Amino acid sequence: MVERIEELRRGAEAEISSASDLDALETLRVRHLGRKAELTMILRGIRDLPAEERGRAGAAGNEARQALEALLDARRAALEAADLDEHLASDAIDVTLPGSPSLRPGARNLLARTLREIEDVFIGLGYRVMEGPEVELDFYNFTALNHPPGHPARMAQDTFYVDPATLRSDLRIDADPATPGREAENAGGGDSAPRLGTQGAAAAGLLPPGPEDVVLRTHTSPMQVRAMEAQQPPIFIVVPGRCYRSDPFDATHSPMFHQIEGLAVGEGITLADLKGTLDEFARAIFGPERQTRFRPGFFPFTEPSVEVDVSCFACGGSGRLPGGPRDPLCKGTGWIEILGSGMVDPNVFGFVRERGYDADRVRGFAFGMGIERIAMLKHGVPDLRKFFENDVRVLGQFS
Ligand code: PHE
Repeated sequence: MVERIEELRRGAEAEISSASDLDALETLRVRHLGRKAELTMILRGIRDLPAEERGRAGAAGNEARQALEALLDARRAALEAADLDEHLASDAIDVTLPGSPSLRPGARNLLARTLREIEDVFIGLGYRVMEGPEVELDFYNFTALNHPPGHPARMAQDTFYVDPATLRSDLRIDADPATPGREAENAGGGDSAPRLGTQGAAAAGLLPPGPEDVVLRTHTSPMQVRAMEAQQPPIFIVVPGRCYRSDPFDATHSPMFHQIEGLAVGEGITLADLKGTLDEFARAIFGPERQTRFRPGFFPFTEPSVEVDVSCFACGGSGRLPGGPRDPLCKGTGWIEILGSGMVDPNVFGFVRERGYDADRVRGFAFGMGIERIAMLKHGVPDLRKFFENDVRVLGQFS
């Protein structure tokens, strides 16, 4: 009996030691130690053996079983380790290869794209792009644009005033446009010279700005005066940026919105140049057939002021859609309002006269348009809120 046990043990040991994988090892475990294995049967039958054989056979049998169990465990551990090594080698990834599937690049928001398109048109016409502060002195937003304190046109814009004492130091606005002598000249005041007042004093850095001197800019127009302070004529700039008004958030309004301002100043610039420039803009953005129409308007800082319409690109200017129904885009008029503009008011030049902007010598035009409005018109976006909701389905349509 003991010989048979040793024979079984040697055979099993040889097989287990050369098992090539975990499945084979499991088969060997069942064969040599399972319920029906010969060794198991022998151990089960020990108690029926003659007493003198029982001790030795029992000891040999148990020893054989323990040895085989230990060998199985060792072999399993070795096979598992080899398995892991193999996977580590074969699963190694080359992080320099492109992803699979490769990720789609992100897309610019339609507003940013529209802004770039508009900038490109003006860059092509020789303009430069400038930016200015969103937290602005009342002086630049209103006073230097010919709305002195108390001017009724200030009331037309629902403005966010900001107490500068509450601003973080890195957001403090530039109250020192570095124009030495300007305050004396303006404050001295000939008939046409605008008066400086406390806001001008704040803007000139003579007084710290107080709670009524700082606003979230309501338009990009304050950069007209800032740019002319910084640069002598001729000047051809566009100024894109965010603007703020205490407006509702609905399909056509947002308390934060975007504008792009244009300013062209030099000798001999006329309203005809404004018309030609805006024709070029309208054709570049809305199609080569477009025309522009000027209607009289009012802005305190332009004289004359004009509201500009573009001929409707949905109906071609007829006001009717194919088949006769009224065109809803232009409401049957054939024209769509796109911006406000006009010739720079001489009073605005009065604030920068000593920088070379003598109203008797230079002339200029300015215009300002809402980026949201241009993008909505051009792409048929029905609701302005879509620009700010960050719905990827909307963003994806314009990628
Ligand atoms: N700033 C004006 C607005 O926001 C637009 C404008 C700009 C008008 C430049 C004339 C000249 O309504």
